[in-house]
Amino acid sequence: MTVLRSFVVGGAGFIGSHLLDRLVDRGPVTVFDNLSVGKRAFIADHLDAGRAALVEGDALDLEALCSALRDHDVVFHLAANPEARWGLERTRLDLEQGTIATYNVLEAMRRTETQQLVFSSSGTVYGDTPEPRTEEDLGLPISLYGASKLAGEALISAFGDCFGLQAWIYRFGNVVGARGTHGAALDFLRKLSKSPTELEVLGDGRQAKPYLHVKDCVAGMLFGLDHSTGPLSILNLAPPDGSTVTRIAELCVAASPYPDATIRYTGGDRGWPGDVPRSRMVPDRMSALGWSVSRTSDEAVGLAITELAAEVFGDQER
Ligand SMILES: NC(=O)c1ccc[n+]([C@@H]2O[C@H](COP(=O)([O-])OP(=O)(O)OC[C@H]3O[C@@H](n4cnc5c(N)ncnc54)[C@H](O)[C@@H]3O)[C@@H](O)[C@H]2O)c1
Repeated sequence: MTVLRSFVVGGAGFIGSHLLDRLVDRGPVTVFDNLSVGKRAFIADHLDAGRAALVEGDALDLEALCSALRDHDVVFHLAANPEARWGLERTRLDLEQGTIATYNVLEAMRRTETQQLVFSSSGTVYGDTPEPRTEEDLGLPISLYGASKLAGEALISAFGDCFGLQAWIYRFGNVVGARGTHGAALDFLRKLSKSPTELEVLGDGRQAKPYLHVKDCVAGMLFGLDHSTGPLSILNLAPPDGSTVTRIAELCVAASPYPDATIRYTGGDRGWPGDVPRSRMVPDRMSALGWSVSRTSDEAVGLAITELAAEVFGDQER
């Protein structure tokens, strides 16, 4: 295998740290992360073994990005505002952490003549539609987070065409697993640890989305990178099915030390404005390349809840 010098923006976070577990086998890795959400502990084994280096820096600092990026082959850009609903209170957040940070990554690549980019987009670019979405479907996002992902995709397309950069854009479903930093399952488990008798769930519980285990997410990203050769590959990375919020809540209660906790729904068809209540993604392009998920959405959720419950409750009896 050719040695790959990887640069991972946001590499100390949830998906980034799992990506590192695989990337270190391909060559040296530099993680560029401001540690706002990510943790050194997530990647400490690789740092201590000298297989990866951590540059503490902010993607909003273009000069810092440029000086750290020199002499790498491929950039994985994973940094973003982690919580779509935070955009409701701070409307510049996704513009800065999504759109401008992505512009900076692209501009740093142009200035340092770095050729390949892998970008973490999201199914939120398709907007509020229950029909299964293929990559050809043009949607309009309903959250500021989704808008910043779509803007990032547009910038990548334009930079690619103008400056000859090759890019892989992955539209992830909801990614779940160990070291998770956000999302419904982690929220529910944390709520249960604070309030063991009742679990409050936003919405009516019927919201349903595709959930992808983080190991599949990373495997799919690397498979696409190795097998999709065009200048711009846009790929849905999600299982074709989905899981309901009620199922996630019930599994969280069962995996907690409080299996008698009751579930209370706040009502309404969605958790918050901007939350897409029901979505599905068609992963046919990944299938055509020869790759598919190893777990259904419900299987991914089940495994992730076991992993996250062990982190949240530790040795407490379950
Ligand atoms: N987890 C999911 O369900 C999911 C779904 C769709 C898309 N995505 C996208 O995948 C990417 C990774 O998500 P994640 O779940 O690992 O999130 P995460 O928050 O765990 O990881 C993001 C990392 O980026 C770092 N970061 C944030 N802003 C930064 C900045 N300005 N400069 C430098 N570092 C910065 C954080 O410290 C963190 O380590 C994000 O772009 C996210 O939008 C995630």
